[in-house]
Amino acid sequence: MNILNFFRLLNTIYSDREPDIAFIQRLGLLAVKIGQVYALRPDFLGEERCRALARLYSHTDSLPPEDAVKLIESYAGADFLKNFSSFDTTPFASASIGQVHRAVLNSGEQVVVKLVKKDYVAGFKRDVRSVRRLFQFAIFFYPKLRGVANPVSLLHEIEKMTLSELDLRNETAGWKELRNIGEANRARFDLSHLRFRKVHEELSSENILVSEYADGPTLDELLSKGQLTYDSLLELFHIHGFFMFAIGTFHGDIHPGNIVLKDGNFYFLDTGYIGRVSERMRKNLFYFFEALSTYDYPQSAQCLNAMAERQIGDAKFTDFEKKFVALYADFKEKTVSQVSLTKKMMQTIRLGVISGMHFDEGMFDIIKSLMYLDGMVIRANPDAVLLKDMRRFIQEFKDLIK
Ligand SMILES: Nc1ncnc2c1ncn2[C@@H]1O[C@H](COP(=O)(O)OP(=O)(O)O)[C@@H](O)[C@H]1O
Ligand SMILES: [Mg+2]
Repeated sequence: MNILNFFRLLNTIYSDREPDIAFIQRLGLLAVKIGQVYALRPDFLGEERCRALARLYSHTDSLPPEDAVKLIESYAGADFLKNFSSFDTTPFASASIGQVHRAVLNSGEQVVVKLVKKDYVAGFKRDVRSVRRLFQFAIFFYPKLRGVANPVSLLHEIEKMTLSELDLRNETAGWKELRNIGEANRARFDLSHLRFRKVHEELSSENILVSEYADGPTLDELLSKGQLTYDSLLELFHIHGFFMFAIGTFHGDIHPGNIVLKDGNFYFLDTGYIGRVSERMRKNLFYFFEALSTYDYPQSAQCLNAMAERQIGDAKFTDFEKKFVALYADFKEKTVSQVSLTKKMMQTIRLGVISGMHFDEGMFDIIKSLMYLDGMVIRANPDAVLLKDMRRFIQEFKDLIK
């Protein structure tokens, strides 16, 4: 990324105009990742701009496909293709870091082969190096940047997370971790509608992931056709809620394109990033929603403070609580399209941060999850009063958590 584009990127993220999503995408993977991280920071960008930037999570234009056979040969050698009785060289779905192909193993099993694009890692690393220098330089000239904790360490986080996603062994590890949690807890919690497609570890590596074909539409496809029922979405919340509230380890990218629904069963795909929250955070997050679902705002305010790594006391808290109650004045009985839950959450966290609370990184994994879930409800059932409908799960979670 050159200096001109770098400043254009900062400008489109920070300026008062709507961020130019297509431009950010044209700048490549690093720019998209920077935009995605900023989308989770309503505490310094404001929630309107965050909502606009959040489109970067779903609108990743796929690059023109590369020659799959050449890619495979360079990663795994020519013999690798002998494992398949057929291999469709035209990608069937777009992937943000690579491309996805249908194939059939010699055993007859239908599989999906995900390939990381060539030189993606090297190009990304090169961009990180130049952007790091530019950030150091920009802090000097772009005073607004000083409000951001520290862009150089932010960049370090992005580098860590993206390199982790670009190494498909992490997707296998994430798949295994979630699957093991699911298996270990089947007696404790009804996870009968959660399935994990098989990953062929013996054929998978850093750049290639071979997994059983989950033969069903993604939630994104169902939502686009108006075919995802609200009841199945509530079941997904029930499952994801278990991982988030009861365990604190969850699918960190619960995007509607990353979940397949078949015969009422959910398949989690794309497990390259696992969300993690501390015990303090997961429990108080649950109590926060419990209080919110009964419109007990002073109690919700207490729980938010209890989630924070650095909490506020006495006079500061009294002031915060007053503002919190005012923020939720229009909340009761409102449908998801009348009052957006994501927007409220972002305003809530922003209020907490401005009032002096400090949350650890796990908070951003939570915001991301809520953003996706709330976005799905708006598409599936805009007239839902989501928090009220979640009351049915509260007692069950409460018994698990204590
Ligand atoms: N095992 C699978 N079965 C069915 N579809 C899959 C499978 N793996 C990937 N896909 C399809 O490919 C798309 C991209 O794959 P994904 O793993 O989400 O890659 P990315 O990391 O680029 O988002 C998914 O949205 C889904 O439509
Ligand atoms: Mg995906």
